[in-house]
Amino acid sequence: MDRLLSRRGAGVAGALVLFAGLAAAPPASAGDPGQGHTVFASRCAMCHSAAKGGPTILGPTLWGVVGRPAGTVKGFAYSSGMKGAGFTWSNDRLRIYLPKPNGMVPGTKMTFAGLKNPTQIDDLIAYLNTLK
Ligand code: HEC
Repeated sequence: MDRLLSRRGAGVAGALVLFAGLAAAPPASAGDPGQGHTVFASRCAMCHSAAKGGPTILGPTLWGVVGRPAGTVKGFAYSSGMKGAGFTWSNDRLRIYLPKPNGMVPGTKMTFAGLKNPTQIDDLIAYLNTLK
């Protein structure tokens, strides 16, 4: 009986250690900005600079995009849909936009079919958050 109890005790302690480990780990949806940079380089950089005050390629620079009102980079000729979007880019908005840009902003000039892989989206959003 004693042995049984102490084994159960060890099991509870083990579960607590495991729980503490899980609590310390980042949430599953937090992306890896390093991986996100790779995604950016292969899927976005042909049209977007990531630099502060960076040039227009086909799209505006994405420096500071998280927290920036949509359609507001000076000197960029946005579509009327993007100019009138009326929201500010947040992680959640990007998570909706990136898989299907023209689903969220009808008539957008961003001719990009969309990024479907949820891990790549999380990584990319983590990277975009570093551009500030
Ligand atoms: C083929 C070129 C092209 C590609 C590839 C592209 N974009 Fe764009 N993007 C644009 C254009 C053009 C606009 C302006 C859209 C408008 O005015 O409707 C834009 C707009 C945006 C905006 C809104 C910017 C603002 O100032 O409101 C975000 C955010 C964005 N793109 C993110 C991305 C990300 C992230 C990727 C990579 C997954 C990407 N884009 C790939 C061309 C592109």
